[in-house]
Amino acid sequence: MKEFVIETRKLTKCYGEQTVVKEVDLHVRKGEIYGLLGRNGAGKTTLMKMLLGLTPETSGEVEVFGRKLRGQEKQIYPQIGAMIEAPGFYPNLTGTENLEIFARLRGMKREQTVKRALAVVGLPYRDKKLFGNYSLGMKQRLGIANAILHDPKLLILDEPMNGLDPIGIAEMRGFLVKLSREQGKTILISSHILSEIELVADRVGIMDHGALLAQKNMKELKKGEETLETYFRNVTGGVGIA
Ligand SMILES: Nc1ncnc2c1ncn2[C@@H]1O[C@H](COP(=O)(O)OP(=O)(O)OP(=O)(O)O)[C@@H](O)[C@H]1O
Ligand SMILES: [Mg+2]
Repeated sequence: MKEFVIETRKLTKCYGEQTVVKEVDLHVRKGEIYGLLGRNGAGKTTLMKMLLGLTPETSGEVEVFGRKLRGQEKQIYPQIGAMIEAPGFYPNLTGTENLEIFARLRGMKREQTVKRALAVVGLPYRDKKLFGNYSLGMKQRLGIANAILHDPKLLILDEPMNGLDPIGIAEMRGFLVKLSREQGKTILISSHILSEIELVADRVGIMDHGALLAQKNMKELKKGEETLETYFRNVTGGVGIA
């Protein structure tokens, strides 16, 4: 197996005149948590959508698990779990019932699969509460449970900590670290909040105005003088970020 689980070459997306992702060479290594950091509108979601085939690239290439994504989507997608924007759950069903539907659609044994996924994110199995009455934090957890339902090797999570309170953020960090360290998953997450990425990522990529300006190992960064905030500022040559 190649060193990189995700490798893109000059991946580019244009909407009309606007280039929102510019010649991105992303390198995500096996087993790491890679934090994609960038301000609102930097192009993080668009980049992730191209990795998942949710929007076609204008130019460039994507390799996942060392294979070109183009033409091999059917073999590759079952090994990826994703949460991009709000997942489409049914408000009038419970969390368990919602996951059972997705498990069935994926042709999996429902009970064990759903129980296991809920346990990872700390949601109760067969609880009576309807999804419509879930708090934001519970919704995010169910989104993660859905992303890991089929035990994928790679997780692509767009702003998984969005809207969570500090305790929720710490818990989400705990799930992600557990999935990475104990189950060897490779995880790509995005955020526009430095502190969310700083504590969880093994490596960070800094995105600004569609370009991936730098990639850095967090251990190396922590050895030096720079904080992630000053690093971000130096790389983007601008003001800080939240
Ligand atoms: N379908 C679309 N049509 C036109 N422009 C789009 C479309 N989707 C995204 N954009 C533009 O692409 C740019 C990047 O958007 P994107 O959602 O990828 O940023 P982001 O880094 O995820 O931002 P945020 O932190 O706010 O989620 C923005 O300028 C956005 O307006
Ligand atoms: Mg986004």
